[in-house]
Amino acid sequence: MAAFKERVFSGVQPTGNLHLGNYLGAIARFVPLQEKYDCIYCVVDMHAITMPPSVWGGPQELKRQIREVTAAFLAAGIDPKRHIVFNQSQVSEHAELAWICNCIARIGWLNRMTQFKEKAGKDRENASVGLYSYPTLMAADILVYRATHVPVGEDQKQHLELTRDVAQKFNNDFAESIAACGFGEAFFPLAEPLIQGPAMRIMSLRDGTKKMSKSDPSDNSRINLTDDADTIAQKIRKAKTDPEPLPSEEKGLEGRPEADNLVGIFAALKGVSRTDVLREFGGGQFSVFKAALIDLAVDRLGPLGAEMKRLVDDPAHIDAVLSDGADRARAIARPVMDAVKDITGFVRRG
Ligand code: TYM
Repeated sequence: MAAFKERVFSGVQPTGNLHLGNYLGAIARFVPLQEKYDCIYCVVDMHAITMPPSVWGGPQELKRQIREVTAAFLAAGIDPKRHIVFNQSQVSEHAELAWICNCIARIGWLNRMTQFKEKAGKDRENASVGLYSYPTLMAADILVYRATHVPVGEDQKQHLELTRDVAQKFNNDFAESIAACGFGEAFFPLAEPLIQGPAMRIMSLRDGTKKMSKSDPSDNSRINLTDDADTIAQKIRKAKTDPEPLPSEEKGLEGRPEADNLVGIFAALKGVSRTDVLREFGGGQFSVFKAALIDLAVDRLGPLGAEMKRLVDDPAHIDAVLSDGADRARAIARPVMDAVKDITGFVRRG
């Protein structure tokens, strides 16, 4: 495989409140990558509208959420000057490349996507075409920057595999044209998923077998990034556990999903391993552990939530960050899209 410039891309949907899973599984992990890579972080607003407006709250709410996710990026420590922060709908090359990806991806590939099955539910006939082709837009998001690394939570793994399949098939189907256009053996890199650490799958506080999610009807199932200290404390106190004390070793967490989840959250918030956490709390009662977890969560999330609130109070600043980011994103995406057109055989303006 040809050598590609290393570049990170990831996206977060502006639908509903951001929660601890989004933060620990994705946003917090975006931050250290800035030291090693050129990073592009995107608020994927076109993905948000794959569900009906009643789900994401309508146009005014969408605008508010786009700004809130941007505020979360900035409050977490993403630097929009050294890196790129923008919203997807401002860079039309995403939609343009998504069409090509639609023509590369096979219906059989999309039929296997579990997120579509979950989100469409029983009434599949009534799901939007956009929800079905969601993964090809996601592939376009990544490929339009020829990104090489994609930090996400584990729930996105299948979509990243599809992205690699689209890239590989494009590279194969157009191999001769890619070479003739001067791009050597492969035009798109096969992006590597970055799914590591104790937070790749944060579970519901009410049921350790279900993912923490924006769409869970119970607000007690998740900690939102804008929850205040009392709410965080209350939700952790109420979090489901089991009657046994905490084990002293990681293998003792097997078959204990709620204990495993809370230990994972503690580890991710503190930046240590599950083993380190159990070394400190193993053999003890949940009440003691939960008190420590409340202190740690309030300590980490309190300043983040406060900074998010401060930033969303200045929408003009957020909008300026997004449009500056969109300009710089487009400067990368446009030549890639032009090359894709040349490779595909479209005649374009010289
Ligand atoms: P979204 O908006 O559902 O979630 C944003 C990020 O949060 C992660 N995440 C979690 N991680 C751990 N535990 C959880 N309970 C949890 N819930 C959510 C997700 O894995 C994700 O990293 N399809 C994507 C958005 C997207 C994208 C992209 C991502 C669109 N284009 C291109 C990467 C690259 C999504 O719906 O994420």
